[in-house]
Amino acid sequence: MSRIQLRPLSLDDAPQLLALEQTLFDDPWSLPALERFLQRGDPALGLEEGGQLVGYLLCGKGADEADLLRVAVRAEKRRRGLAVKLLQHLFKALESAGVGALYLEVRLSNEAAIACYQGQGFETLGVRKQYYPAPGGREDAMLMRRYLNAAERAAD
Ligand SMILES: CC(C)(COP(=O)(O)OP(=O)(O)OC[C@H]1O[C@@H](n2cnc3c(N)ncnc32)[C@H](O)[C@@H]1OP(=O)(O)O)[C@@H](O)C(=O)NCCC(=O)NCCS
Repeated sequence: MSRIQLRPLSLDDAPQLLALEQTLFDDPWSLPALERFLQRGDPALGLEEGGQLVGYLLCGKGADEADLLRVAVRAEKRRRGLAVKLLQHLFKALESAGVGALYLEVRLSNEAAIACYQGQGFETLGVRKQYYPAPGGREDAMLMRRYLNAAERAAD
């Protein structure tokens, strides 16, 4: 069995990312959106096995705060700790960069992702009504936050 390696994503990965987006999400990012993101230099991590991406994470980074935009793992590779591996690498990178908190929105119906985020220390802040497009209407989002260093948490 080949090893799964974590590495930063580059512009060359955009076509593979597009294919994953279209497989894994109902509202996939477009190729131009992925290319624009990859050129920004914000955190973009991939998990590669035998030359193929099996998971990835995209994060928008500001000076003090960051937004988790995507984390996804191929269906046949799930429940092996790969999302956690991506998230924990991101937490360390953001902490080193002095970022205090990581925010995200997630569909209320996405129980797997919510369980994963809760297990990684995210807390629920509230619900954004009708935030996502959904078949036959719109779907609410849960807003979550994870502090990235003890000082921020103590100041809350
Ligand atoms: C959410 C997602 C990224 C999780 O990836 P994963 O690699 O399977 O997650 P992990 O193996 O690291 O799981 C960590 C923990 O999350 C929880 N979890 C993950 N999938 C779960 C599921 N289907 N049901 C319940 N809990 C789940 C568990 O607590 C799990 O720990 P455990 O396996 O020891 O019980 C994956 O299901 C996915 O790609 N979903 C489609 C894309 C998506 O919705 N992304 C999130 C929004 S951007």
